[in-house]
Amino acid sequence: MCGIVGYVGTQKAASILIEGLKRLEYRGYDSAGVAIQQEGRIDVAKKAGRVEVLAKEVARRHFSGTAGISHTRWATHGGVTDANAHPHLSSDGKIAIVHNGVIENYLSIKKFLLGKGYAFVSETDTEVLGNLIAYHYAKETDTKPGSRLLESVRKTLRHVEGTYGIAAICIDSPSEIVAARKGSPLLLGVGEGEHILASDAAALVSRTRNVVYLKDGELVQITPDSFSISTVDSLEVSPVIDQITWSIKDAELSGYAHFMEKEIFEQPAALENAMRGRFSEDGSTANFGGLNLSATDFRQIDRLVFASCGTGWHACLVAEHLIERFARVPVEVDYASEFRYRNAPLDRDALFFVISQSGETIDTLAALREAQRKGYKALAICNVVGSTIARESDGGIYQHAGPEIGVASTKAFTSQLLISAMLALYLARLRDMSYSDGVTYVQGLKAAPDLVRRVLDQAPRIKEIAQRYAQCSDFLFLGRLSLFPIALEGALKLKEISYIHAEGYPAAEMKHGPIALISERCPSVFFVPQGELFNKIVSSMQEIKARKGKIIAIVTEGSDLPAGLADETIWIPDCHEAVLPIVATVPVQLLSYYIAVARKCDVDKPRNLAKSVTVE
Ligand code: F6R
Repeated sequence: MCGIVGYVGTQKAASILIEGLKRLEYRGYDSAGVAIQQEGRIDVAKKAGRVEVLAKEVARRHFSGTAGISHTRWATHGGVTDANAHPHLSSDGKIAIVHNGVIENYLSIKKFLLGKGYAFVSETDTEVLGNLIAYHYAKETDTKPGSRLLESVRKTLRHVEGTYGIAAICIDSPSEIVAARKGSPLLLGVGEGEHILASDAAALVSRTRNVVYLKDGELVQITPDSFSISTVDSLEVSPVIDQITWSIKDAELSGYAHFMEKEIFEQPAALENAMRGRFSEDGSTANFGGLNLSATDFRQIDRLVFASCGTGWHACLVAEHLIERFARVPVEVDYASEFRYRNAPLDRDALFFVISQSGETIDTLAALREAQRKGYKALAICNVVGSTIARESDGGIYQHAGPEIGVASTKAFTSQLLISAMLALYLARLRDMSYSDGVTYVQGLKAAPDLVRRVLDQAPRIKEIAQRYAQCSDFLFLGRLSLFPIALEGALKLKEISYIHAEGYPAAEMKHGPIALISERCPSVFFVPQGELFNKIVSSMQEIKARKGKIIAIVTEGSDLPAGLADETIWIPDCHEAVLPIVATVPVQLLSYYIAVARKCDVDKPRNLAKSVTVE
């Protein structure tokens, strides 16, 4: 949510910053800007609208400086205007700053600065931060050369309440950036004669794969040839340089129309990556390297509590179903944003899990910290290596799904489902599941990538169906048991990218209210797997049909669905129960995607949304 890129080196900064912003645009796309150090000035260009609009302005102005900072914004304080776009200049013109996050005490700081003669041209909390840095900078005249900006930022941050990832430059110091983070991600890319800062790796991987993940409370000072890290409390930090394992190609469209489309089709590979090296030699259970708990520890656990947000929360619901079904361990699922304030009583031997693709979602991070504060072990299922949640959890499972750029989560979700299924297997084999049931389960999981490929092969048919229903005003998604969360996910996917109102329900619950919505313009997407509740689901479909509702049915191949009951049928292959939520997800991802495309929606940048929600 909001993206920062900073560069100091020997190349022209503007084009590097614009390229970085384009790669971060999924984090926020209501305005963008750059501030470049050149010829003793700080030149700022900023525009409401997409990075493309800014890129034209930057090209027109021929910036030649080799240091600068930039930002793509998702508005929090102040509307979407050129004035509210970042970077912000201090009123004395000395400091330029970009900021992600929210400064909670900005009004009292603003009052103080107004009293000191500082002026403000925007409604943002960021401008307050920039002016406070300028205020301290004006007083830091005795600081040793090379440390004045750093110490001014440090002093400022000591007075600030809230969250931030910031980068600041100063007119007096043309080849220096000072950056800091608390609650908002920031990485340092260590290059040859250059350093680059970014909110995530996608913006810097084209220049270097050597990165330092900054931690909360750390500041970094960079010049072309050096960097140093210290804390807000002035302690020096020895940096750990990590290697990014994926390449720039993984973050490019590679011929697809949208990242969402690309990521839907990458699911077989993402599933293979989630499983790689994670089954026991005898092929009867799963192994996870990073849980930091022994099998004996796991046997003591009498309850699991899962927390997450959005799509991740749907993955938690599937985890609940599979763990209770196969391992017979009670599971609770909470919205992370509620858990952190709810002060929920937890069992003595509970184990806490969060699920987060980005590893930066602030509500999920806060829930993790709250569980840890209460003395619980808190583990994470997470995609982004080195993210805050990955670092702060007591252990966990990396998804290895590769970068997910589309704002609507797809491959990360099915990978979370697969890992949840593997966790259920691991817990089940510690308890009552037999060796041979374990082997059957593992074989079922291993088949998942090929089964997903078979669903993907139906994309052209699903596209045709999508085109027929693209102008509907409402949708219901109805599923039972492990497919109820997939109904929720189908409804979320559709509404977030096509702006069609959609709701997900357990299929039998539909008659307790939502059935009132049924009309020719409100189709129902039914999940109808072959199995114990097949006949019950067919009855629910009859109730819709009797009210002239259209039905799109997602049905197991070879199923004996009564002819004519569904208006459209999408086939999913027969599969192990633990894999069913995965194969059932793919048709609704494709349906939502093609409906959004037919409605000419901006699939990868849906309105009002941004990926990685780092504000409350
Ligand atoms: C929806 C979507 C969001 C995220 C949610 C949590 O398609 O992507 O609902 O699932 O914001 O994000 P992570 O998983 O990064 O914590």
